[in-house]
Amino acid sequence: MSPFLLTRTLPEDAAGAALRADVLEGLTGSPRTLPPKWFYDAHGSELFERITALPEYYPTRAEREILVARSGEIAAAAGARTLVELGSGSSEKTRYLIDALTDLRTYVPVDVSESALTRAGQALVAERPGLDVHALVADFTARLTLPRTPGPRLVAFLGGTIGNLLPAERAAFLSSVRGLLAPGDALLLGTDLVKDERVLVRAYDDAAGVTAAFNKNVLTVLNRELGADFDPASFDHVALWDARHEWIEMRLRSRPAQTVKVPALDLAVDFAAGEELRTEVSAKFRKEGVRAELAAAGLELARWWTDDAGRFALSLSVVR
Ligand SMILES: C[S@@+](CC[C@H](N)C(=O)[O-])C[C@H]1O[C@@H](n2cnc3c(N)ncnc32)[C@H](O)[C@@H]1O
Repeated sequence: MSPFLLTRTLPEDAAGAALRADVLEGLTGSPRTLPPKWFYDAHGSELFERITALPEYYPTRAEREILVARSGEIAAAAGARTLVELGSGSSEKTRYLIDALTDLRTYVPVDVSESALTRAGQALVAERPGLDVHALVADFTARLTLPRTPGPRLVAFLGGTIGNLLPAERAAFLSSVRGLLAPGDALLLGTDLVKDERVLVRAYDDAAGVTAAFNKNVLTVLNRELGADFDPASFDHVALWDARHEWIEMRLRSRPAQTVKVPALDLAVDFAAGEELRTEVSAKFRKEGVRAELAAAGLELARWWTDDAGRFALSLSVVR
């Protein structure tokens, strides 16, 4: 069996320090917010995998359809020997790329969820003899140091996860990704597209309540990691379409007026009845917007593929 290596790029308590800083800033701000990366403890990663199989959640199926149809073209254009995947999660759809990249030597999945990386990495080395898997537990919004592996590199950022970053964060993120790429390297970017509001809202508010459980999981993370006393049952899951920004917002709405204590931060947060906490934005894109954001980071959109129904897009930028 080929090697599976997992590297924690963060010093021992860096994740804890980042969580405390994010929660302090987010819960004391107006409106109150939390960054989505804190959904993904082991339970949150499992819930996300359940979301990807829900009938309402079309993005995973749409992106898989593109990968099934286009991985050969992507592989021919990228010719990569190293595939880096940011926010790799289960790496489930990535298998189409891995199989199509005939010269691939090393796969570098990068995620904040160590449990997801371990599960996916161990499965991949068992399934794909000859493939080295070097997983990185890291925050892709921070400066990344990638392992020294053979080029060219293809950096994949799938799932529409880029939409979870706010516009200024996306610009900084794309510039830092550009900084990781040498001539001949490429970026494969998955973006969910603007569409009918009802389809979008249903994708984030499913009938079975899995997305609601995923949303509330962030409160459980804060209870466990910071000793907070959130009662998740007293918050309602809210998903709404913001037409001005063209993004979905997920929020948690406090049903009663209540005070939540966060002892690790020496903080007491007063929620008014009906007050909302924003937990995620999920921006939806149009081709010209993607092209412009890539260009602002010094990347040229070379190829653009959508699923047959035009719900989701993959774009490829190759560095000259
Ligand atoms: C929406 S899921 C997508 C997962 C997978 N790429 C897919 O397409 O199904 C987002 C993934 O990114 C990871 N993630 C979220 N924020 C992150 C961050 N700041 N740094 C690294 N990983 C992050 C999560 O743990 C999760 O696995």
